[in-house]
Amino acid sequence: MHPAPALEHHVSLRPYNTFGLDVTARLFARFTSVEELRALLALPEVQAAEKLVLGGGSNLLFTRDFDGVVLKNEIRGLEIAHQDEDTALVRAGAGESWHGLVQYTLDQDLSGIENLSLIPGTVGAAPLQNIGAYGAELKDTFEQLEALETATGQLRTFSAAECGFGYRESVFKGPLKNQFIVTSVRLRLPRRHQPNVRYGDIQTTLQDMGIEGEPTPRHISEAVSSIRRSKLPDPAQIGNAGSFFKNPEVSQAKFDELKRRFEALPGYPVPGGVKVPAGWLIEQCGWKGQRRGSHGVHDRQALVLVNHGGAQGQDIRDLAYEIIASVREKFGIELHPEVNIL
Ligand code: EPU
Repeated sequence: MHPAPALEHHVSLRPYNTFGLDVTARLFARFTSVEELRALLALPEVQAAEKLVLGGGSNLLFTRDFDGVVLKNEIRGLEIAHQDEDTALVRAGAGESWHGLVQYTLDQDLSGIENLSLIPGTVGAAPLQNIGAYGAELKDTFEQLEALETATGQLRTFSAAECGFGYRESVFKGPLKNQFIVTSVRLRLPRRHQPNVRYGDIQTTLQDMGIEGEPTPRHISEAVSSIRRSKLPDPAQIGNAGSFFKNPEVSQAKFDELKRRFEALPGYPVPGGVKVPAGWLIEQCGWKGQRRGSHGVHDRQALVLVNHGGAQGQDIRDLAYEIIASVREKFGIELHPEVNIL
């Protein structure tokens, strides 16, 4: 058996969560390979403990110290595993940064994930919630992933169908929760670029950038990055975990009824109903830009809760529950957190 990496005791998780919350993990270790991960999982102390695998910590709200073992995934590696005339199969280690992977694909003249530029977090976390933004989702280019089964130490391959992707959903958040640790991801990316500029402000941002004619993947990446920078707080400056809530879906009948009362209510048709932007609902309840000392609601995107400095996880969770209650009261819609609350 490969030697196990060092197991540390009482480690502050502040550098490892983008909310910047100062909680402590009872045990903490990093792994850079499947072998190191297996060796860690074989340690009796680790076996007996509750496990939390951490990527970039960009989708987590810690409300208390973690009384288990935090395993930080630092498996690296970016390569073109296979290519033909039309596509390339890119393989990335789960511990790589997602945006680093996006930049790598742009450097290789590949397209397909440029709309997902600047999403915080790691490659390994991306499939768990099928990350999405600006008209694209991970599942659009996903080919397969490898994951280690915690109970057996066996590596298993999951196809896109086996991952059960939905809106910010996968089997790894549902029936297989906490059973597998993603170790690598493969994407199939087209060489021929089909620009996807339908969403929101991409087109106008490209115009503002002076891009005429068909934009390259790099142009789109720059446009998306500029929109994100203008709306979403940079976790390096203000603690946050991106969208705190999912955009809820309502039935067509419910949407029609609300539309009669709230004429400006936006909605996007989805199979089985209408998706409504939670940011709009929250803003209408008066929350946008509200600050409660150490924490609050972002002033340019009401879907994002922020730690201005020194907030406790419970404060942010309580604010989230108040927001949920007020949206329920005003619109009769139930919001659900997108962020994992621990
Ligand atoms: N809106 C408001 N007020 C707000 C925010 C939004 O009225 O404060 C309304 C506007 O009508 C706007 C619409 O909501 O036109 C959509 O806003 P935006 O384009 O900012 O997107 P979103 O639906 O609020 C989702 C994702 C984001 C992703 C953007 C862009 C979810 C939960 N969030 O937000 O993802 O970046 O679309 O595609 O689906 C994340 O998951 O962490 C995340 C940031």
